[in-house]
Amino acid sequence: MQTRIITLDEFIIQRQNDFPFASGDLSALLRDIGLAAKVINREVNKAGLADILGVHGSQNVHGEEVKKLDVFSNDMMINALRNSGQCSGVASEELEEFIYFTDEHNANAEYVVIMDPLDGSSNIDVNISIGTIFSIYRRVTRSRNCVQEDFLQKGINQVAGGYIIYGSSTMMVYTTGNGVNGFTLDPSIGEFCLSHPNIKIPSKGNIYSINQGYRLKFSEGVNQYIRYCQADIPEKNKKPFPLRYIGSMVADIHRNLIKGGIFMYPAMQGVPNGKLRLMYECNPMAYLVEQAGGKATNGKQRILLLSPEHLHQTSPIFIGSSEMVEMVMKFENEYSG
Ligand code: AHG
Repeated sequence: MQTRIITLDEFIIQRQNDFPFASGDLSALLRDIGLAAKVINREVNKAGLADILGVHGSQNVHGEEVKKLDVFSNDMMINALRNSGQCSGVASEELEEFIYFTDEHNANAEYVVIMDPLDGSSNIDVNISIGTIFSIYRRVTRSRNCVQEDFLQKGINQVAGGYIIYGSSTMMVYTTGNGVNGFTLDPSIGEFCLSHPNIKIPSKGNIYSINQGYRLKFSEGVNQYIRYCQADIPEKNKKPFPLRYIGSMVADIHRNLIKGGIFMYPAMQGVPNGKLRLMYECNPMAYLVEQAGGKATNGKQRILLLSPEHLHQTSPIFIGSSEMVEMVMKFENEYSG
């Protein structure tokens, strides 16, 4: 058992010391993301009080405009990244175009950040877990300000990726390519503390997560896999798998990461690329789940090897316990061709 509390900041510094030539820039960036997460967490926790403290979009008692939580989270993350001095630009699911920082210390910074500042935000009003998802990439150009090419990289190039889940407790889970670690926010001291070191996703798992309401639009392979999960296909000793679907990707993937399972948002009739965003949602989650020993594919190839064409493109995704991802691919190959 761990005997001493290790805070996120301590952990990041410890890890930095493992790499003799590390400059500390990435560490500073991760710490600043952690800081922004605490402020977003504070606001998310107050969401139920919106009617009392001021409905989003209205003015609060001080005459200030109350921002919608997703807008607030976006602004908070951008401010933190700008202040870090280690980030030359940000692409956000909330913004049409990426932004670049023009001040001296940021413009020359080595990293860009891609993020979904508040994923699952349609769940805020009903008190369901939501999250912030982030990816960090090293710039590939040397121009003074970062350009589109710096963002449009394959997921495999990420130097860090992770999420913050605002749930029954708030956690930050991330990887820098050397395993996955989870930190729980202790509200009494206001620190993220290492609570889930070296997370490994069970390779078997049995939870399946998919919006089954769209069943009629799924491929034959996906539908046959659903039948397999439900033990509707004769197989010796097969028990039905539990279906769990929150409709909040961070929450669904976090649960499956810990307990073992598969999350699917496949292609659908009329929606060949699914709903979820490659750069903001699929890539960071794929990097993290692979680092935990799981798999992530779009049905044909590893998510991390997809070449992005534009920032907001979507991709089908099958992600989670390796044996479950392999099994759904078997059904896809057999029935969907
Ligand atoms: P939003 O941010 O608009 O609430 O979307 C959430 C995303 C993702 O988090 C979730 O897994 C998925 O959309 C749910 O989509 P469906 O409602 O179509 O199942």
